[in-house]
Amino acid sequence: MLEEVEERGAGADRFEGRKSESSRPVRIKEIATGTTPRICTNIREFDRLVGGGIVPGGFTLVGGDPGIGKSTLMLQLSNSLAQQGLIVLYVCGEESVEQTSLRAQRLNIDSDNLLLLCETNFSVIARHIEEVRPDVIIVDSVQIIYKSELPSGPGSVTQVREIATEFMHIAKGKRIATFLIGHVTKSGEIAGPRVLEHLVDTVLYFEGDRQHHYRMIRVVKNRFGPTDEVAVFQMASTGLVEVPNPSQMFLEQRMKEVIGLSLIHI
Ligand SMILES: Nc1ncnc2c1ncn2[C@@H]1O[C@H](COP(=O)(O)OP(=O)(O)OP(=O)(O)O)[C@@H](O)[C@H]1O
Ligand SMILES: [Mg+2]
Repeated sequence: MLEEVEERGAGADRFEGRKSESSRPVRIKEIATGTTPRICTNIREFDRLVGGGIVPGGFTLVGGDPGIGKSTLMLQLSNSLAQQGLIVLYVCGEESVEQTSLRAQRLNIDSDNLLLLCETNFSVIARHIEEVRPDVIIVDSVQIIYKSELPSGPGSVTQVREIATEFMHIAKGKRIATFLIGHVTKSGEIAGPRVLEHLVDTVLYFEGDRQHHYRMIRVVKNRFGPTDEVAVFQMASTGLVEVPNPSQMFLEQRMKEVIGLSLIHI
């Protein structure tokens, strides 16, 4: 379902996160480049997955089915980055601060540099970003944030695209690594993360089997690294635990199911 609604009276408030200096053409060879700077999250499988760590100003979409573990992963990632001294702003629009801090307690997360913001109105969030000046922003989820100037409701294609574009300008203009969580939806009423894939640098999809405790994260797009990489995690009461050698684990599990099968290590 596609919906296009004209915006009313937003004017100057749109895309304020853009770089302020006006654009001009530059010779490509005059642009200073080097290797992409990376920040290791210290979640080794995640770092490997995204090509060696997250990139300042990188804009990432984390999609996945409801309840798969998106908030858990992003909270663990936030903690790991906050422990390195980075300021992380976690916008928990879908849950109260209490709910998110309960999860944080379960996951043993207590970094001073991790700030929770329970807010769904984009302009309020933007004000807090100006004030806090974080190094990393997590938006949980993009489908719940709204701009009051737009006539359509949160989660509509118009809102989701506009909100994502705003965060893209914030990420690029202020060089803040920004992660948007997006629910994969079956109904057409809420726009799914696919409508944002073209806007972001990196697209990660969280997949898994809820009966088993395994979760897979797949890279389907990456402007800073390889695609089609997969990382496997196991969901435990203390959060997601890395599985560094998934083929061996799956094989061992399969062997338990097949009587008489034996494995020879070469
Ligand atoms: N005490 C616990 N012990 C083990 N696993 C748990 C526990 N509490 C939650 N979980 C796991 O965490 C999953 C929910 O994780 P999380 O809230 O991060 O998912 P989500 O993708 O953010 O969900 P939502 O769509 O509701 O935002 C549950 O499905 C369950 O597998
Ligand atoms: Mg969640």
